[in-house]
Amino acid sequence: MTSIETLEHDVLETPADDVTAAPVAVTELADEYGDPARYDLEYGTAGLDVPFYLALAERADGTVLDVATGTGRIALAIAEAGHEVTAVDVNPAMVEFAIDKDVDETVTWVEQDARELKVRGKFGLAIVAGNALQQFVANDDRAAVLKAIYRQLAPGATFAFAIRFPHTSELARRVETPEIWHSYTDVTGSQVIVSGTQRYDATSQVMTHETYRQYAVDGTPAAAPTTTAVRYSFPQELEAALAAARFEVEATYADFAGTALTTESAATASALVYVCRKPETTKR
Ligand SMILES: C[S@@+](CC[C@H](N)C(=O)[O-])C[C@H]1O[C@@H](n2cnc3c(N)ncnc32)[C@H](O)[C@@H]1O
Repeated sequence: MTSIETLEHDVLETPADDVTAAPVAVTELADEYGDPARYDLEYGTAGLDVPFYLALAERADGTVLDVATGTGRIALAIAEAGHEVTAVDVNPAMVEFAIDKDVDETVTWVEQDARELKVRGKFGLAIVAGNALQQFVANDDRAAVLKAIYRQLAPGATFAFAIRFPHTSELARRVETPEIWHSYTDVTGSQVIVSGTQRYDATSQVMTHETYRQYAVDGTPAAAPTTTAVRYSFPQELEAALAAARFEVEATYADFAGTALTTESAATASALVYVCRKPETTKR
């Protein structure tokens, strides 16, 4: 099974083969990001993208801006390596949770909508990690984020992000009965099985997921079911959006190991990764 969520951070727990998802009664769908503690247990582990963004931070001249930081998974790792980091998220609960994790106060945390991003300083590197750019489903919203990031960068600075690769076979795969995606261990040490449905709207390029979390031991709910809507984008379309925001594309990868995106590598790409640059001199 190719799991869209498995592509998120690449190091999620895999449930045992004999584990099945019990039927669940759906009453109300909660916000996927409404419970940062649960989100952090499930997705907060380092991930294969951390060394990738860290290498860009080492190369960058100046400070780092982490847009849509979530619980600070990447921001904290980059700060720990000695870089000055500002991290922004629109969700106050996420920001509060990240602040609590940052016991040494290494990061400047800002609660802000990335579409109206305005923070102190000009940065040498900006990142949008963990598929967060897919949160901006409308062209105008995504354009606003790209424009705002461009404004916050110093001339010659780097902008990097990764989203899920739009494998057409995966987009076409409608899942009505929850299928198992991965598992995690909650605060009590119990294994929680995560399963979900997916439905792709080819007109909006938006995939809607409903996600269920149940204790492996007896199938009882471990959290309220959640929903997400994420926008998929294709390479040529992204290049047009980046060019409109005046970014130059420096490299495109099919994974975080730095495999160049080619016709061949695209078939098995685990992500769609862009490294861009704000030109040294900007034309008016
Ligand atoms: C999939 S999480 C990614 C978190 C983090 N970048 C990571 O890699 O672990 C998406 C994050 O985007 C944030 N987000 C969604 N819309 C946003 C907006 N308009 N401005 C800033 N953050 C936003 C959510 O609150 C959530 O924390």
